Amino acid sequence: PSISIIRVPFGLGAGRPGSENGPDSIMKFGLAKKLAGLGYDVQADSSIRLPDGIRSPAGAKMKHVQEVLAVSGLLGEAVSKAVAGGRVPLILGGDHSIAIGSLAGLTRHYGKMGVIWVDAHSDLNTESTSPSGNMHGISLAVGLGLSHIKLKDIVEGAASIQAENCVIIGARDLDRDEKELIRSCGLTCFTMHEIDRVGIEKVVREALQIAGAGTDGVHLSFDVDSVDPIEAPGTGTPVRGGLSYREAHLLLELLSESGRITSADFVEVNPLLDRNNQTSKLAVELIGSLFGSRIL
Ligand code: ARG
Ligand code: MN
Ligand code: MN
Ligand code: MN
Repeated sequence: PSISIIRVPFGLGAGRPGSENGPDSIMKFGLAKKLAGLGYDVQADSSIRLPDGIRSPAGAKMKHVQEVLAVSGLLGEAVSKAVAGGRVPLILGGDHSIAIGSLAGLTRHYGKMGVIWVDAHSDLNTESTSPSGNMHGISLAVGLGLSHIKLKDIVEGAASIQAENCVIIGARDLDRDEKELIRSCGLTCFTMHEIDRVGIEKVVREALQIAGAGTDGVHLSFDVDSVDPIEAPGTGTPVRGGLSYREAHLLLELLSESGRITSADFVEVNPLLDRNNQTSKLAVELIGSLFGSRIL
């Protein structure tokens, strides 16, 4: 099996700088070597750069829309190329707005794709509901076709994902309009409440049912702020009460065992806010679990 690591050093979708340094930091702590040690053929030379001269007009409600669109287009093509070549795309952010590009590239190939979105947030705001104007807060809504921005306008042949095949895990900070949307749109949201009540194992099994039933691929979009800030302090929008170190690993081990995950994003690692590189190192470990690393 082979993996294409695609770095996306882009942080303008977040409200504070630093996540653009996430990919290099994660690589520095041995990701390629770890995956090679697990038996994968690893291609790690791809990096998506924001082209020169792209700047959004100042004063718009949503910030850096043009920059996000430009990066999404380039990332979408790179992801599409990996899938066409039979490789698993592993996308390293960057802030969570980059998931727009991942989803655009993937849906060109997967006609009915499931999505598992692991996050403290739901990223389901739109241009009209966003309280912050930050593009990383609308990326899942874009994927679902709820924004003015459509995946098909980013990558030719792309299409929206379906709410029925979409699951959020780990939510604990939702804006008012996001809550309303979650209740009405038909996606499944396992908040920290459900995880505490029934356990992460049952939640992941049900998530795989929902994202995996009748789909031809399952994309994992993993926002590191899903993990409790005690374990993952290096992120721009930390929220207390998150996944424990052990829950996070078990979640990824169960996804790995399922054999259903066909692509993944790891986003929102912010080295500027980190403590002793704890969050970058954790990301390397968690990606290892997704790709088959085990204790014994
Ligand atoms: N809901 C808030 C917003 O719309 C926070 C989003 C945080 N998203 C993230 N990918 N960390 O701005
Ligand atoms: Mn997110
Ligand atoms: Mn988040
Ligand atoms: Mn909030």
